[in-house]
Amino acid sequence: MIQIKNPTELKLMLKAGELAAQALAQAGKNAVAGISTWELDRIVNDYIVSHGGHSPCKGYGGFPGHNCFSVNEELIHGIPSKKKILKEGDIISCDIVAELDGFMGDNTKTFRVGKVSEEAERLMKATEEALYKGIEQAVAGNRVGDISHAVQTHVESYGYAVVKKFIGHGVGREMHEDPEVPNYGKAGRGPRLTPGMTIAIEPMVNSHFPEVNILGDKWTVVTTDGSLSCHFEHTVAITNSEPLIMTLEHH
Ligand code: MF3
Ligand code: CO
Repeated sequence: MIQIKNPTELKLMLKAGELAAQALAQAGKNAVAGISTWELDRIVNDYIVSHGGHSPCKGYGGFPGHNCFSVNEELIHGIPSKKKILKEGDIISCDIVAELDGFMGDNTKTFRVGKVSEEAERLMKATEEALYKGIEQAVAGNRVGDISHAVQTHVESYGYAVVKKFIGHGVGREMHEDPEVPNYGKAGRGPRLTPGMTIAIEPMVNSHFPEVNILGDKWTVVTTDGSLSCHFEHTVAITNSEPLIMTLEHH
């Protein structure tokens, strides 16, 4: 069932979104050559906790970290590790969820570590643009398929592939609520968008093929050919007018 949030709930959720966005910015600032993803996870979690929130991914389905850090061919669900040290030219997707006063914000950016390849730049541009193409469609009266279709079309116009095995989702008191928000599909299909719905739109994009593998750690999702992948995400509320991006650092 889709949980519609009332104005009071939306205000609380905006605060959680802000905290998630600020925590993500901390990850971006600290994603430099030489740092481990374990250390990044610690910095982000400390930030969230010191601002009154917590990291609901910790322990979710047994996930061992506080948040997900995925480097290069790793698409999503990278486990923070002291052995995973960033180096110049890497790209790192930081997927950060913060819970504050009973509500969650979920957001992701892929950051550059120093100077990255032109190939990486183009992939990041396509994926972030696709996120905003999806957000543009997040208006009352549209259907979820309008978002999905906009994301897929944009990604494929670059010759890249959307991943089908993992999808966006409703978000609120729970990290994963209805509806499902795939990054592929037909316009005009799926649940109708109505004011008060809050969803995580999150294009997950591979350079070559849509397929992914899961590593032996049972979490890390990687491209099958070792090529780059990319992930951007915002939590967005459907309103009576423009889509409201909840995961911004300042509202
Ligand atoms: N942030 C992820 C999402 O968008 C969830 C992370 S999986 C977890 O759904 F196990 F780390 F929680
Ligand atoms: Co999400």
